[in-house]
Amino acid sequence: MKLNNGRAIPCPGFGTFKTPDGDICIDAVREAIAAGYEHIDTAAVYGNERSVGEGIRQSGKRREELFVTSKVWNTERGYDKTLRACEKSLQDLGLDYLDLYLIHWPANEMQFGAVAAGINLDTWKAMERLADEGLVRSIGLSNFYPSHMAPVLATANIAPAVDQIEYHPGLLQEETVALCQEHNILVEAWSPLGRGKLLEDSTIVDIAAAHGKTPAHVLLRFCEQNGVLPLVKSVHADRIRENLNFSDFDLSPDEMARICALPQARYGSHPDTAAF
Ligand SMILES: NC(=O)c1ccc[n+]([C@@H]2O[C@H](COP(=O)([O-])OP(=O)(O)OC[C@H]3O[C@@H](n4cnc5c(N)ncnc54)[C@H](OP(=O)(O)O)[C@@H]3O)[C@@H](O)[C@H]2O)c1
Repeated sequence: MKLNNGRAIPCPGFGTFKTPDGDICIDAVREAIAAGYEHIDTAAVYGNERSVGEGIRQSGKRREELFVTSKVWNTERGYDKTLRACEKSLQDLGLDYLDLYLIHWPANEMQFGAVAAGINLDTWKAMERLADEGLVRSIGLSNFYPSHMAPVLATANIAPAVDQIEYHPGLLQEETVALCQEHNILVEAWSPLGRGKLLEDSTIVDIAAAHGKTPAHVLLRFCEQNGVLPLVKSVHADRIRENLNFSDFDLSPDEMARICALPQARYGSHPDTAAF
């Protein structure tokens, strides 16, 4: 896929949330890259950046063949702390640049009252500096809904390239997706499998059977057909490989409509009420 700054971003991304630090993470990342993933998604708060970096080194790939994302955690918001947080992530990963750096969650009004937007703008200024200095190639947002995004869009010198949000059948985030499309911001889907729970949904299972594909393929292809880049996590080699093979079939308009009609579901926190 393409970002609004002209850079390419490989689809899908390989997720590492809840992937335990140490050998499990090192093996999963190395396995994923060997299977063909070129895009790894991590975050300082996942506590596994050292292992992600080791998995990348063990893969034997050259740095420029891979696309690596990390995120500044909520305790590090603000200008100076964000600059330091990025340095720490680079050090832990053992990399000299990130392909994409994201604000992990917006400061929200429930926690920060009237200064929430100002905190997000200070953090964004630091993100722009990191991009100017070449420490990160692209910068973006995560879990920003339109109300959080508006002040950034109004004042940014560098437009966000990405908004990474919870996205899957049952949570299609129409307003956020529409705003992102208007500004040519790529939407990335976290928990595209509904943390694994949607794999058992009977509609998904039926559609998968009709195509001779797996439920994971249907959920990932659903994102892709909607122009959304899925990030998918597994620590099992067979699933890691399975989750790559979803681009060789098309969901029909009727199948897309049946998937869109699945009941509402949210597996993570809402950015307006997240208190962490
Ligand atoms: N920005 C944010 O706030 C945010 C929040 C959440 C996630 N993310 C990112 O998005 C990535 C993906 O989201 P996620 O990890 O929450 O959920 P997910 O990818 O929707 O689902 C992962 C779960 O599904 C299982 N699974 C994966 N492939 C499978 C398959 N083919 N068959 C059966 N089970 C399968 C995994 O188990 P095993 O590992 O045991 O195989 C794991 O329990 C994260 O890893 C992270 O990088 C970002």
